[in-house]
Amino acid sequence: MKTKPIYVTMPSLAPLDEYKKILEGVWERGILTHNGPLVRQLEKDLCTKLGLRNFALVSNGTIAIQMAIKALELKGEIITSPFTWIATVSAVKWEGCTPVFCDIDPETLNLDPAKIEDLITDSTVAIMPVHVFGNPCDVETIEAIAKKHHLSVIYDAAHAVGSVYNNKSLLEYGDIIATSLHATKLLNTGEGGACITGDDELHEKLKRIRFFGHDDTKEVIEDGFNGKMTEIHAALGLANLKYYDDVLADRKRKYLKYKELLRVDDSLHFQKTTFGETNYSYFPVIFDSEATLLETEKRLNKNQIFPRRYFYPSVNTYTKIVDYRPTPISENISKRIACLPLYWALTDEDIERICHIILNK
Ligand SMILES: Cc1ncc(COP(=O)(O)O)c(C=O)c1O
Repeated sequence: MKTKPIYVTMPSLAPLDEYKKILEGVWERGILTHNGPLVRQLEKDLCTKLGLRNFALVSNGTIAIQMAIKALELKGEIITSPFTWIATVSAVKWEGCTPVFCDIDPETLNLDPAKIEDLITDSTVAIMPVHVFGNPCDVETIEAIAKKHHLSVIYDAAHAVGSVYNNKSLLEYGDIIATSLHATKLLNTGEGGACITGDDELHEKLKRIRFFGHDDTKEVIEDGFNGKMTEIHAALGLANLKYYDDVLADRKRKYLKYKELLRVDDSLHFQKTTFGETNYSYFPVIFDSEATLLETEKRLNKNQIFPRRYFYPSVNTYTKIVDYRPTPISENISKRIACLPLYWALTDEDIERICHIILNK
C-alpha cells in the first residue's frame, strides 16, 4: 500500500468558499493593493485579537525586519542569534548593518542574555533576539541590558504570533517586533509579515517606509520602499483569522501528545519554555547526536515521513556571507535538532505512528 507523504508542515487554510466570498469584494471594488480596505481590516482585527496597539502589515517577514532597522535608523553592529533562519541575518546585512552572533541557551534555544554584554562595542546599535519556535525570550533581562547601553531592541518574532508573556501578547515587547505570516506560520496570508510597535510615531513612519516613503498627501518625506501587502493576501488572512483560536488549540494539543509519547526515551530532549507561554507552533526534538538524528530521519523517510532539520546549519557558519565567530552551543544543537510534522491536517494516528518509528530503533 502506498502511504501519503507526511511533510513537516502544511498550511492551515480556511474553507475555500469563505475565502472566495471575501475575494468577491475585491473584484467588486477593483482595489488590489495600496493599503486597501482588507489590509486595514486585517490590521484592525489583529490588534483586537492580540490586544495590540498597532499592526503594520507588509509583504513578508524579511521585509518586516529590514523595515524595523530602517525605521530606527540603525547603522552599526546588531547582536543577534546564530540559531535562526538565514532571513534574520540577510535582513541585517541588506540594511548595511553587521550581525554579531551571540550564543544561545541550550535549553530555551533563544539568545542567552548572559552573553550579550561581552559583545557590546562602541559600534553596537541594537539587539535582535529571535523567539525561536515561538518560545518567548527573556524579554525583561534583554530590555534592561538594552536600556543600560542605550540600544534598540528589535525582535525577530517570525514564529511568535500567539505566544504570550505576562498574560499579554509577546508581540508587545521590544521597540519594533517583526513577524511573519508566511504559509508555514500559525496564522498565514500565503506570503506576509508585519511590523508591530507600541510607539505611534514609529508606526506612522513604518507605514510610510512600506509605501515608498510617501506621507498621506503622497509627498515623499523619507527613504522608503515597497513593503505593501496585497488585498488578495489580506483576504486570506481574514479568512484564516476566523480559525486562529482553533488552530492554536489544535497545535497545543498535538504538541503535548508528541511530548507525552516521546518522553519515555530520555535520550530525546525538548525545547524548554522558561518565560511565558509558547504558541506550540513547532515540535523540535534534540537528539543525543547528529548520527542518531540522521539514522532516525532515514527510518522516518523510509515511511514517507519528512521531518526538517531546522535550524541547520547554525547561521554563523555561513562563511560566504558572514564573518565566522564561534557559537559552540548553537553549532552543536543545530546538528542534532529536527522539527517533527505538526499541522492542522495531521491526525492523532499520524503522531502515534511517527513516535512509534522514532522510539523503535
Ligand atoms: C526566524 C525567522 N525569521 C525570519 C523569517 C522570514 O520570514 P518570511 O519568510 O515571511 O520572509 C523566517 C521565515 O520562516 C524565520 O523563520
